[in-house]
This record gives sequence, C-alpha cells and structure tokens, in this order.
Amino acid sequence: MNLVKPTGTGPGGGAFMHPSDLNFSEIDVATGSADVASFLAAHAWPFHTLPRLDLAAAASVPLGPPDQVRSFWISQHGKRIGVIRLLDLDDVADGSVRFDLRVAEESRGRGVGRHTVCWLTDTLFRDYPSLHRIEATTRFDNLPMRRALEANGYRLEGRLRETWPSADGVRHDTALYGRLRSDTRPDAEA
Ligand SMILES: CC(C)(COP(=O)(O)OP(=O)(O)OC[C@H]1O[C@@H](n2cnc3c(N)ncnc32)[C@H](O)[C@@H]1OP(=O)(O)O)[C@@H](O)C(=O)NCCC(=O)NCCS
Repeated sequence: MNLVKPTGTGPGGGAFMHPSDLNFSEIDVATGSADVASFLAAHAWPFHTLPRLDLAAAASVPLGPPDQVRSFWISQHGKRIGVIRLLDLDDVADGSVRFDLRVAEESRGRGVGRHTVCWLTDTLFRDYPSLHRIEATTRFDNLPMRRALEANGYRLEGRLRETWPSADGVRHDTALYGRLRSDTRPDAEA
C-alpha cells in the first residue's frame, strides 16, 4: 500500500502528511463533547447541508453511545485537526456502517482525508469481524471526499439525483459509495 505523496504540496498549499504524523484517539462522550462542539463550530463545512454550526447545533451532533456511534479525534503532533464519527454500528451484523469525517480547514488538501479513510476502514473491518460493508455518501461535487474514498477501494454505486439539500436552496446530487470487506485498494491491485 502506498498512500504517501512523495513530494510537494497539497491542493490546500500545505505539505503532504505522512500517515505516521497522524494519531487517532477515541473520544469519551462524557468528557469530550464540549471540545468536539467547539471544534465543529470553529470551522466551515461547505459540502454539508449546514455549512456553519453554532455551538448549540454542534453540541447536538451525536458522538455516542458506542454501540451505535463511536467518535475519534484526528491529531497531528498533538494538535487536533479533525473528527471522525463511525455511525450505524448497531447495523454491523446485517447492514452497512457509515461515517462522518471532518478535517479542519487549514489541514485540508494535505492527505489527511485519504489516510483517515484508510485508517477507519481498516479499524472497522478489524474491530467488527462480522461487518461486511461500509457505505459512504457525499455531495457529488465533493471531489476531495470522493477521491479519498476511491483511493481506499470504495466503489461508486450510484448517483442519487437532487437528494442533497444545501443552505442556498440548491438540491445537489449525492454520490453513493460502498466498500465490501473483499474489495481491495486500487494500488493493491497493481
Ligand atoms: C473531504 C475531506 C475529509 C477530505 O480530506 P482532505 O484531507 O482535504 O483530502 P486529501 O488531502 O486526503 O485529498 C484527497 C484527494 O482529493 C484531492 N483533493 C484534495 N483537495 C482537493 C480540492 N480542493 N480539489 C480537488 N481535489 C482535491 C487530493 O489531491 C486527493 O486526491 P489524490 O490522492 O488522487 O491526489 C476534507 O476536505 C473535509 O473535511 N472537508 C470538509 C468536510 C467534508 O466535506 N467531509 C465529508 C463529508 S461527506
């Protein structure tokens, strides 16, 4: 597996990240919720239906309970640069798990998304031996998310027309991706 950009800078202008620069730590809902809410309220989420969350809205984003939702910080050298939520964990046995991934604005375009999708995919299939499929939806024009998914073996399974509302009233299409346990990453197929 080669997910490391050899040289240069990302679309965001910063240096590419090495996977070993990133650390993933599970969030304790009882003690960590306020920090997550501050993080979510501090950044813009341009492809989400709500591109800005105030503190109250951010505090209502579910981070648990862990039999349904598990949440993690993404950190680089001790600085928190993103949040992952693994969703629908109560569907592991007979459905699809989903996830929500949000990287801080200043850390986008440097490989964090790609490495994180790699980590969470491996973590889900390792921690849940009966899990067969992970599902991911994103706005069709969210190219960074789509490329991060495709680099990790997620396959485009559908384009759901005008199903993704946005704050400006436009209904965007949704890209639906699936990753089976048996699927491989493109660079593993070479
Ligand atoms: C979507 C998101 C998680 C992707 O993470 P990221 O760290 O920015 O993405 P990466 O740097 O890992 O880049 C992934 C791919 O997208 C490409 N890319 C990154 N930014 C891009 C941009 N602005 N335009 C086009 N392509 C871009 C990268 O080149 C890379 O592709 P490649 O490996 O084929 O070269 C992150 O941008 C984010 O948190 N955005 C806001 C929240 C969001 O939209 N979350 C997804 C909700 S479904």
